[in-house]
Amino acid sequence: MIFERISAGGCQSYLVGCPETKRAALIDPKLDQIDHYTALAARHGLRIGYLVDTHTHADHFSATRQLALQLGVPVVMHRASPAPFVDMRIDDGEMLAVGGLRLQAIHTPGHTADSMCLRVGDRLFTGDTLLFGATGRTDLPSGDAGALYDSLFDRILRLDPDLKIFPAHDYQGGGSSTIGQELATNPRLQIRDRAAFIEMMGNLNLTLPTHITEALRVNMSGGKAVAQLLAEAAASVPFMSLAELRGRIGSAPDGLIILDVRERDAYEAGHIPGARLLPRGQLELRVNQELPDPTRRLLTCCELGHISTLAARSLREMGFLSAVALDGGMKAWREAGYPVKSGPEP
Ligand SMILES: [Fe+2]
Repeated sequence: MIFERISAGGCQSYLVGCPETKRAALIDPKLDQIDHYTALAARHGLRIGYLVDTHTHADHFSATRQLALQLGVPVVMHRASPAPFVDMRIDDGEMLAVGGLRLQAIHTPGHTADSMCLRVGDRLFTGDTLLFGATGRTDLPSGDAGALYDSLFDRILRLDPDLKIFPAHDYQGGGSSTIGQELATNPRLQIRDRAAFIEMMGNLNLTLPTHITEALRVNMSGGKAVAQLLAEAAASVPFMSLAELRGRIGSAPDGLIILDVRERDAYEAGHIPGARLLPRGQLELRVNQELPDPTRRLLTCCELGHISTLAARSLREMGFLSAVALDGGMKAWREAGYPVKSGPEP
C-alpha cells in the first residue's frame, strides 16, 4: 500500500494508494493543503479516485468539494452526512474499491451522527471517533456521547487489537498506536460504564473551535470560506502599490479614477486626494451613471484592501477591464504618511 500522512495544524489527512493500479483515495483533506496533496499524488504517480470525509468537520475547511471540482472525482461520505454535494453516500459495511485495495466503512456515530471509520488492511482510519489517548468530542452539532460509547465499545474496540489507528487529529504530531494500545492506555477508554462515560464526556468543558460557524457552513453546504472568496478575487485582479499610487496622484496623465468604496462617513473622515466615493454596497446600482466609459483606468480602495479587491473583481466582471485594486488600504496609506483629504466630495 502506498501511504502518506499529511499533518497540518493538528489535522491529519491520508493518501492511500494501490501500488499496482496507482489508484488512490484521499481521506479528510484540508482546503489549505490542496497543492500538497496533488503534488504528493503526482510524486507517487497516483490518480486520486475518491475524496473521503470521515465526518462533517467543525474545526477546519474540508477540501473535498474543491478537489472534486478540480479532479472530477466523487466526494464520499456516510449516508447521514447533511452535505448536498456528496456524490457517493456509503453505509456501514460497504466498501470503496481503490484499485486492489478495499476501504470498508464502519458507521461510528458519536462525535457526529455521520462519523465513520475506514478499514483497509492492517489500518483503521478512525476520523474523530478514536484519537491517540483521547476520543472525539461529543458537544458539537449532532454529537452524542452515548452513541460514541456504543461505537467504541461495541464496534471499534472489538476489532483486531493489532489494527493500527490513524485519526483525523494528532495535536502532538508523530503519534502511532493500535486498538489494543488504546484499550490499555487511553484514559477515556478506562471508563467502561456507559453512564459514567457519558457523564465524563459531558464534563470536558472544551472551548469551541475557532471558525466553527464558518467551517460548518462551508463543510455542510459546499459554499466558500471568506478567505477563499478573497483569495479567488485577489487572483483575478491586478494591484497597484501604495507608493505607485502616491506617485501618480495629482499628475493623473492617464486619467486614473480612484474609487473609494467605503461608506460616506469613512470617506469624509479622510480619503486619498482626488478619490471619488462609490460605496461597495451601491457599486452595481450606480456604475452605469458614475462610470459611463468602461475603458477608463479604475483603482479601487477601501480601509484594509479586502473589500476593494472584491469591488475590482466585480468591476472586471461587469466589463471594466482596466479595474485594479490598491495593494493595501487607507489604514496602510495613513500609516505611510501619504496625503489625506477630509470632507465631502467636491
Ligand atoms: Fe471532527
